[in-house]
Amino acid sequence: MASFGMQSPRRKKVVYSDRYIPSRSGVDLQAAFSLSQTDDLSACPSNNNEAMDLDQRKEQEANRTFSTVLKNELFGDNINLAGTSNKPTDQITPPRSSSDNGSTSASERTPRQATNFFSYQSPNRSRPTSTSIENDIYSLSPVRVDSQRLLLSPTKKPRSIAKVPYRVLDAPELVDDFYLNLLDWGSQDVLGVGLGSSVYLWNASSGSVDKLCDLGDSDKITSLSWIGTGTHLAVGTNTGLVQIWDAQTSKCTRTMTGHTQRASSLAWNEHILTSGSKDKTILHRDVRQPEHYMKKLTHHKQEVCGLKWNVEENKLASGGNDNKLYVWDGLNDTPLHRFEHNAAIKAISWSPHQRGILASGGGTTDRRIKIWNTLNGNKLSDIDTGSQVCNLCWSINSVELVSTHGYSRNQVMIWKYPQMSQVASLTGHTYRVLYLSLSPDGQTIVTGSGDETLRFWNVFDKNKNESGPQSVLLDAFTQLR
Ligand SMILES: *[C@@H]1O[C@H](CO)[C@@H](O)[C@H](O)[C@H]1NC(C)=O
Ligand SMILES: *[C@@H]1O[C@H](CO)[C@@H](O)[C@H](O)[C@H]1NC(C)=O
Ligand SMILES: *[C@@H]1O[C@H](CO)[C@@H](O)[C@H](O)[C@H]1NC(C)=O
Ligand SMILES: *[C@@H]1O[C@H](CO)[C@@H](O)[C@H](O)[C@H]1NC(C)=O
Repeated sequence: MASFGMQSPRRKKVVYSDRYIPSRSGVDLQAAFSLSQTDDLSACPSNNNEAMDLDQRKEQEANRTFSTVLKNELFGDNINLAGTSNKPTDQITPPRSSSDNGSTSASERTPRQATNFFSYQSPNRSRPTSTSIENDIYSLSPVRVDSQRLLLSPTKKPRSIAKVPYRVLDAPELVDDFYLNLLDWGSQDVLGVGLGSSVYLWNASSGSVDKLCDLGDSDKITSLSWIGTGTHLAVGTNTGLVQIWDAQTSKCTRTMTGHTQRASSLAWNEHILTSGSKDKTILHRDVRQPEHYMKKLTHHKQEVCGLKWNVEENKLASGGNDNKLYVWDGLNDTPLHRFEHNAAIKAISWSPHQRGILASGGGTTDRRIKIWNTLNGNKLSDIDTGSQVCNLCWSINSVELVSTHGYSRNQVMIWKYPQMSQVASLTGHTYRVLYLSLSPDGQTIVTGSGDETLRFWNVFDKNKNESGPQSVLLDAFTQLR
C-alpha cells in the first residue's frame, strides 16, 4: 500500500506532468499570418475556449502581434493595440473597402493593394505616408515608430492559472465523507491531514512527512484544525473526543470529552476552541483552563459540519446538515443571524478583505454560493454553481474566492468577487473535492478528495505588498515551470 506523501509513479506518469506541452499544430506562423478574412483560430486544435490552454492563448496573442507588426511594416496599416485585444475572434485585417481607389489614406489600405511590395520604390513612396514619417526617417530602428509603440505597449495578459496541480501526494485512507474536515494548512507552513486513525504532518518548507498521532483501531480522525500560531493541532475523533497535540513534540497535551458523537468540525479563536458534532451541539472550550468547558450551543437540529471563527470581529459562523447557517457574536448563545441553503452547509468562509462578509455554499440539492453581509443580515450575492459545493475559501492576496465541488465534474473553481465571474475551473480529482486549505502565503491551495490524493494548485498571485523569500515549496514550483 502506498504511504502518505508518496507520489505514485503511475499517477505521475500517466495523468500528470509538471509541464504542459502545447500542441503547436494549427497555430504556426504561416497559418496565423493569414491575410484572408477567415478566422485563423478555426485551425486551433481546441475549439473550446474555456479549455484553451494559457500557452496556446499566449502563442496566439504573440502571433497576432507579430502579424500586426508585419502588416504595419509592409503596408502601413497603422494598426494599434486595439487590433490585438485578447478576444480570440478579433480580426486584424481591416475590411476591404469597395470604394477604395488608391488615393485614400494609409489606414484604409488593404494588404491586397500592396502585392508589388517587393518592387523598388523611392523611400518616400515605398511606405505609406504616416504622421510619424519624420521620426521614421531619422530612427535607428529598422522597425517603424508605430510598430515600436505597438511592441512596447503593455498587452493585457490573460490571468495565468496553471490548469494542472504542480504536486500530487497520495493520501491513502482519506475518507470520502462530506461532513468531515480532514485538511488544514497552519501558519507555520505545515499541512495537517487526517488519514483513517492517524494524523500526518507535511512540512511544506522541507517536504518532510511526520506521523503526529495514531488512535489505533478503536477510533478515527474526523476533524482537525491548527491554532492561530500554528504550534498546536486540535483533532476531533469519531467517538467525540477533542484532543490537542503539540506539533513540536508530537505529544497529546489534552483530551477533552463533551460530545456524544463524532466531532466533525473545529475552529479556533485565540485560546477558545469550538467544536461542532454529529450530536448537533457546538461546544466552546477555553483550552487554558483545567475546566475547559464553557458553553454549549444547541440551535442546530442536525450534524454541525461547518465551523469558522472570524477572529478579528469575534464572530462565529456555523453550518449544519439541517441546511442552516448561524452567525454568533462571540460566545453569546443567541445567534445574530440565521441564514439558509437548500442542503447541508459545510462550505463557509469569512472575507479577509471586508468586514462582516461571509460566503457559504450548499450541498447537492442546493449547489449555490451565497454571500452575506453579517453586519446587517443582507444577502449580497446568490449564484447557482451547478454542482454540490463542498468547500469554500477566500483568497487573501486578491478579492477572489475558491470553491470545490462534487458531482459532476469534481472541479475547483475560482471566482472574482463581487462580480462572481468565473476566473478558472480546475479539474483532475476523480471524487468530489471535499477538503480545501490555503497556504499561509496565500498563493497555493491544497485540495483533497476520496480519490485519496492531495493536489496542490498555484492559483493566486503573490501579495504585492509582501517582499522577501517565500517558502521552498514555491521556489520549487518556479523551478518546475
Ligand atoms: C477616390 O474616392 C474618393 C471618395 O470615394 C473620391 O472623393 C475621389 O475623387 C476618388 N479619387 C479618384 C482618383 O478616383
Ligand atoms: C520624394 O519626396 C520629395 C519631397 O517630398 C519629392 O521632391 C520627390 O520628388 C519625391 N520622390 C518621388 C519619387 O516621389
Ligand atoms: C519545517 O522544515 C524546516 C526545514 O527543515 C524547519 O526549519 C522547520 O522548523 C520545520 N517546521 C516545523 C513547523 O517543524
Ligand atoms: C497593500 O497595502 C496597501 C497599503 O498599505 C493596502 O491598502 C492594500 O490593501 C494592501 N493590499 C493587499 C492585497 O494586502
